[in-house]
Amino acid sequence: MSTYSSTVIDEAVQTLRDGGLVAFPTETVYGLGADAKNPEAIKKIFTAKGRPSSHPVIVHLAAPEKYDVAEIDWATLVSPWVRDLSEDALKLINAFWPGPLTLVFKKDKGVLNELTGGQDTVAIRAPAHPVAQELLRKFKSGIAAPSANRFGKVSPTSAADVRSEFEGMLDLMVLDGGDCEVGIESTIIDLSSGDHAVLLRPGIITPSDIFSKTGIRVFQLGEINQDKGDSVLPRVSGSMRAHYAPTTPLRMYSPGRILDALSEFPDIKSRVAVAVWDSDSSLSHDGHPLVHFEEVLIPSECHAFASRLYRSLRDLDQQGWDLILFPEPPPGEEWDGVRDRLQRACFGSGPSSINHSSN
Ligand code: TXA
Ligand code: MG
Repeated sequence: MSTYSSTVIDEAVQTLRDGGLVAFPTETVYGLGADAKNPEAIKKIFTAKGRPSSHPVIVHLAAPEKYDVAEIDWATLVSPWVRDLSEDALKLINAFWPGPLTLVFKKDKGVLNELTGGQDTVAIRAPAHPVAQELLRKFKSGIAAPSANRFGKVSPTSAADVRSEFEGMLDLMVLDGGDCEVGIESTIIDLSSGDHAVLLRPGIITPSDIFSKTGIRVFQLGEINQDKGDSVLPRVSGSMRAHYAPTTPLRMYSPGRILDALSEFPDIKSRVAVAVWDSDSSLSHDGHPLVHFEEVLIPSECHAFASRLYRSLRDLDQQGWDLILFPEPPPGEEWDGVRDRLQRACFGSGPSSINHSSN
C-alpha cells in the first residue's frame, strides 16, 4: 500500500540534505538514494550495498511541479550534469521522460567522480513514480540511486523487500510507494559516443519502441565498433554474468523439458518449484520418482511477467526449495529485458553465488 504524506517526504529531503540515505520507490524498482552532489553520502551507498566503487550510479532528476509533459524544458534541467545535449538526446527525453529510460551522456565537469566511477560519462533518468517525483521536486537537485539491494542480489520491488535487504545492517528510511509497476530496471541507452545510441541494458522500453516514437535506431552492444578499448568493462554492473540472483539454485527449462534441467545436478533435488506459464494448462511432464515438483503459475504476458519476476524470485527463495525452475521466455524483443535478468539470476544463483560475481 502506498503510505506517504508531505511530512514524510520533508523528512526524507532533510535526511538527504544531511548526507543520509533514503530508499524510495520508482516505477521500475526501489532505489537507494543519496545527494548526488555529496561525495560522502554517495560513498555510503557503496558501503551499504557492498558494491565496488568503480560501478557508476544513475542520477535521478525531477520534472518541475504541475508539469505538462509536453512543455517541460528538459534541456535546462539536464544541463548542470551533461556536457552537451544532442538533438537525438532531446528526442529521446521528450518521448520517454518521465519513465523507465536511462540515458548515458558525456558528463559535465562538475559531476562527481564518486558518481561516475571515475568515467567521463553520467547516467540520468527521470522516474515516473509520483513518490519519486515529489521527493525529487522537493529536494531540488539530483538524487544518486542504484537499486536498493545488496550487490548482485535481486532488486527490491516493495518497501518490505528493501527493509529485508538491509535488516540489521542499516537504519534506513524507506518511503513506501507500494509495489513497483514495471518490476525490472530501466532500459539504459548510451549516447556518449555522440553518433550512435547503444543499448547497455534491455528493459520494458525496447529499441523498437524507441524507433517507432523517435526514428532513432538503437544498436546492440558489440554491433558497432565502439572505440573505447577494454576500459568499457565493467561499466554496467548488470553486465556481469551473475546478478539479480537468489540464494536457491535457479535454472531455466525449455518447453516440455523439465527433467533435462535436473540432469546438471549430481545430487538429486527433491523439492523443486516449477514456474509454469498461466496460459499452459499443466506441467505436462512424466514426473520423477524421487522429486516432488510444485507448480507456481506465472503470467505469460511479458509486462505482467516483468512486474512479478523479482517478487516471485524473492518469495520462492524464502520457501526453502532445493531448486527453482523457470520456463525460458519466448523469443522476441519485448522479452529481452526479462530474459537478460533471468539468465544472470540463474548464473549467480545458489549458496555460493558470491563466488561467481567477480565476472
Ligand atoms: O530502474 C533503474 O534504473 C533503477 C532505479 C532505482 O532507477 N536503478 C538501477 O540502478 O537499476 P543500478 O545502479 O542498480 O543499475 C544502474 C546501472 C549500473 O549497472 C551502472 O553500472 C550503470 O547503470 N551505469 C551508471 N552510470 C553509468 C555510466 N556512466 N555509463 C554506463 N553505465 C552506467
Ligand atoms: Mg542494481
